Amino acid sequence: MTRRSVSILAITVLLAAGFLASGGLNAQKKGKTRPLTSSQVMAGLVKPEFLKLKAGLEKSPQDDDAWKALATSAALLNESSYILMADERCPDKPWEEGSMILRKASLNLLTQIEKKDAAGALEAFAMVQQSCKTCHAEHKYKKK
Ligand code: HEC
Repeated sequence: MTRRSVSILAITVLLAAGFLASGGLNAQKKGKTRPLTSSQVMAGLVKPEFLKLKAGLEKSPQDDDAWKALATSAALLNESSYILMADERCPDKPWEEGSMILRKASLNLLTQIEKKDAAGALEAFAMVQQSCKTCHAEHKYKKK
């Protein structure tokens, strides 16, 4: 290799690394035009509603208000699956799969909650948990 082709190679590698560090990751961290980051979707919507469902289902809902609150959380989680797929946020297949499991599982969960079926709801909730794992296996960034 000549000196010249070595430096061209070096520049190409640097450009590729720069692309991966900026454009490559931005697609997952944020959508294309709206400001809401994926981290904010998780911290402000997905995590709190997920935790409310977990706590509420583990002790078995006692009255109509408790069921109503669980229905709200399940519907919001379902909505988050649309946010995750909107605005060109989705970068690849695992992301899409995780979002689709979240969508189906939360809808199923909502159906069980509307029937006030505590055992069925717990089962459906396990599938919701599966959606987090499916996407996070590829896409969970460490906080800096
Ligand atoms: C379609 C992909 C996807 C799905 C599904 C998903 N997550 Fe995430 N989650 C992410 C990404 C991407 C990050 C990292 C965001 C970042 O740091 O920029 C993340 C980060 C998080 C964080 C850390 C948030 C923070 O403070 O930055 C929590 C908590 C979290 N997810 C909870 C959940 C739970 C609970 C579920 C399931 C109900 C879930 N996630 C489902 C993609 C997903």
